[in-house]
Amino acid sequence: MNKVSFICLVLGFASLTSACKSGINHQTKSTTSVNGLLETRYKMLLDYPVDSMSMPRSMNTKTLEIRKVPSKDWTSGFFAGNLWQLYRLTGDSKYKEQAQKWTPFSKKESVNSNSHDVGFKVFCSFGEALKVENKKEYEAVIVKGAETLCTRFNPKVGSIRSWDFNKEIWDYPVIIDNMMNLELLFEASKISGNQKYRNVAIQHANTTLKNQFRADNSCYHVIDYNPTTGEVRKKTTLQGYNDDSVWARGQAWAVYGFTMSYRYTKDPAYLKQAEGTAKFFMTNKNLPEDGIPYWDLKDPNIPNSPRDVSAAMVMASGLYELYTYTKNQSYLAFTDKLMASVQTDKYILSTGIKTPFLFDHSTGNWPKHDEIDEPIIYADYYFLEALLRKK
Ligand code: GLY
Repeated sequence: MNKVSFICLVLGFASLTSACKSGINHQTKSTTSVNGLLETRYKMLLDYPVDSMSMPRSMNTKTLEIRKVPSKDWTSGFFAGNLWQLYRLTGDSKYKEQAQKWTPFSKKESVNSNSHDVGFKVFCSFGEALKVENKKEYEAVIVKGAETLCTRFNPKVGSIRSWDFNKEIWDYPVIIDNMMNLELLFEASKISGNQKYRNVAIQHANTTLKNQFRADNSCYHVIDYNPTTGEVRKKTTLQGYNDDSVWARGQAWAVYGFTMSYRYTKDPAYLKQAEGTAKFFMTNKNLPEDGIPYWDLKDPNIPNSPRDVSAAMVMASGLYELYTYTKNQSYLAFTDKLMASVQTDKYILSTGIKTPFLFDHSTGNWPKHDEIDEPIIYADYYFLEALLRKK
């Protein structure tokens, strides 16, 4: 497909999804106006200066202060990833030029073994770069990152250790988000031919499958293991309302992570889990009508609780892929609804706010009172990925 037809297809999809928005309670602008809003916001990413010290992660919409982070932050690959995806969506070389400048920002993280987030940091930047430019240097960073991530694998537990903090509380914490880092490992095996990365990814996914889910297919955020025996010590949370609650983004990481793992392995158990958690989420009684979840689906303050657009967009991108394997129309219809919901002026940041973000109303870490109901960069990343996947 040439670029012109692809842009038509994307705009057509935006119109289609806007047309499907019946039943949404909030005010919406016309399709043309909403499309214009998004395009205006896309261009604001180009205005953000290339700065080797910090990447825009989120924004306080009251003070208009942008939170900037160094490469060691788990989100450091997303800005380059957004620029690469915008290049693929629009064909405008300005996004590619900016993406080329931002991609090296997270390169040194390929040798940082301080957390499991090497997958997010390296793959969301260099992985996206590789989809556009077939460069050996991008491949080398991905393989290096996979090697680093494997240093955190304990064969007794059968998992990659997520975090090193809170040592007085946890012995070996593994969080559901960690499923997302497996894509780096699967791709590194394909690039290098070294099966070690893939084997680690499969063992991690199998251990997660065994221990991280409840009978209703919702997932815990954190499982703490005994690193000597491999036994489960605690099923708990850091970012959810409480240990037994349903942190919305965690459910989305699970659906996306197991669907992606199915892509590489064709293990039906992974598909079954992704479908189970997707169904749990889609039919949840606390999910608002527009599908954009409250940050935790068991927050007792619902409906007076902040939403999380980022959870919706991770779920959207994961469900589009899940649809391709199952052809279950309910995934497609639900995801189209999510995409229509966010492409309204309730969620798109107003053009008067000059920042390199597309959407408002994500929630980062509610228990820490951190990034509540704000624009957060990874909501934009998974929205752009979902748009590309819709193609
Ligand atoms: N991986 C961190 C988060 O989802 O907030």
